[in-house]
Amino acid sequence: MKKLVSVSIAAIALFGMVSTAQADIGQYRKNGCAACHASGAAGAPKVGDKAAWKARIAKGMPALANSAIKGIPGTAMMAKGGRVNLTDAQIKSIVKYMVDASK
Ligand code: HEC
Repeated sequence: MKKLVSVSIAAIALFGMVSTAQADIGQYRKNGCAACHASGAAGAPKVGDKAAWKARIAKGMPALANSAIKGIPGTAMMAKGGRVNLTDAQIKSIVKYMVDASK
């Protein structure tokens, strides 16, 4: 059921009917964000690690989404985590999931 829900959210997002409000764990897993952010690999802030996210969350969602979209120079965080085919709205919904799971 959970999987079905995130698949339908992804499908809706694809058709542009949902903008940025939904947190999207399905896309987080599917697009490889979890490769770094589930384990903390390459120095990534681990999803669920409140201490690692506190200062980042304090910057606010627009700043977080912006650095996820553009990447953080000099780190393993590439623009859109390397998935340049993702829309900004998709990135924002993934970042929302990551933030919600790390507060
Ligand atoms: C190759 C590893 C890697 C992948 C894949 C990756 N990230 Fe990251 N991410 C990082 C690292 C490392 C940082 C911390 C960079 C720093 O601030 O030093 C980071 C930081 C972030 C931050 C915090 C930005 C900030 O302003 O503090 C967000 C949000 C984020 N990633 C989202 C994503 C999303 C969304 C995806 C998938 C589309 C993704 N990441 C994929 C390595 C990765």
